[in-house]
Amino acid sequence: MISTPICDFARAYEDSRAIRLHMPGHKGSAFLGIEGRDLTEIDGADVLYDAHGIIRESQENAHHLFGTGLTLYSAEGSSLCIRAMLYMIVLHAKAAGKRPVIAAARNAHKVFMTAAALLDIDICWLFSKERSSVVSCPLDPLDVERTLKEKRPAALYVTSPDYLGHVADIPALAKLCHQYGALLAVDNAHGAYLRFLPENRHPIHLGADLCCDSAHKTLPVLTGGAYLHISRSAPELLRSHTQNALALFASTSPSYLILQSLDAANRYLADGYAEKLAGLIPLLNEAKKQLAAYGYAVLGDEPLKLTLAPKGIGWRGDELAAYLLEKNMVVEFADPDFMVMMFTPENARAIGKLTQILCSVQKRCPVSETPPAIEAPVVRISLREAVLSMQEVIRAEAAEGRVLAAASVNCPPAVPIVVCGEEISQSAVHCFRYYGIEQVSVVKG
Ligand SMILES: Cc1ncc(COP(=O)(O)O)c(C=O)c1O
Repeated sequence: MISTPICDFARAYEDSRAIRLHMPGHKGSAFLGIEGRDLTEIDGADVLYDAHGIIRESQENAHHLFGTGLTLYSAEGSSLCIRAMLYMIVLHAKAAGKRPVIAAARNAHKVFMTAAALLDIDICWLFSKERSSVVSCPLDPLDVERTLKEKRPAALYVTSPDYLGHVADIPALAKLCHQYGALLAVDNAHGAYLRFLPENRHPIHLGADLCCDSAHKTLPVLTGGAYLHISRSAPELLRSHTQNALALFASTSPSYLILQSLDAANRYLADGYAEKLAGLIPLLNEAKKQLAAYGYAVLGDEPLKLTLAPKGIGWRGDELAAYLLEKNMVVEFADPDFMVMMFTPENARAIGKLTQILCSVQKRCPVSETPPAIEAPVVRISLREAVLSMQEVIRAEAAEGRVLAAASVNCPPAVPIVVCGEEISQSAVHCFRYYGIEQVSVVKG
């Protein structure tokens, strides 16, 4: 059986009833009932990002389970891992004597932008021709190849799976990247489980050099638990700098509750998780089939996500989510066009009831309203300059012509409509209205 050294240590410490003359201030016993196992870096508890003991052993367990070249924990989500990935890309570019430029699919999470601004990285955006939502950005391989050839970026950065459950063709992107000497970095925040499918679909297995997984999004892990993975074939420079890259941005007080959760997940993953997944997927596929037959557009190719576009049967995504809420079902995300639900083997029993409810909603006249198209952005100042400028918050309706200073997004999905440094166009204002964004932060003056 796989070891759980962090959990074992915390349990033994709690059982020892030691008088805690150290942080945290709750001394193991206040308010929530979970404080007993909430530790700091006392003797034996190891040090995240300078790990030689129980954390190292646990991270090695994770690295073997995922079959990567290196896997390290984050107690601060994929957000921390994305910052670390971008820093490593800067180092990689430096080693090649190049200025850091990253080609990125436009549906990147806002952390990608703030990290690029702080690290002074230039972004070369890749847009999609068939963009039906700001949340998705399927790439045309010809555009990708042209950009890799002409701009010679240090890396290509893609979000896969995206919030709606679209999965990119990672093997094809990896091949192109490697042909042009670029790294492939993947925001796999939504796809930690892909490793455990009957056919391994994890980005690292498919050719990505580095990627982050929010363990907490799809695995039974506390919020904040995430992995940063480096592939075996990635340049050695990445593996030798991963700890430092994470340490550069991380808190020096990582949550030991989250670390225990990641540690315990190793045993869960090793112990029949793949079989549980294999049992869940046919149930979800059957539900998707029934929902499509009822008239819903079922989107995406990510097995554990159920994304519906219900306008064809006369419902907006957010209306349908409100209807489910009346039935005490809370979805992951809804906007005017889509409703996204996420499943694990632990909530498989809900699938039947959900399908029944969704297939009994009253059909109405199709909703014809579509998201406003946004034209190509006009960059007025650099991303970095915008993020570091003096800012003011104004009504989104009055923002036309101003320059965006802070990512104005709904969270989830936290995908910016306009990027900092770009001019806010009339169509962007329409988009803000459509997605319910009321205020934006713009460059002052
Ligand atoms: C695509 C994507 N990337 C990154 C993140 C950030 O992940 P975390 O919440 O684990 O920091 C999110 C969070 O919603 C996300 O959806």
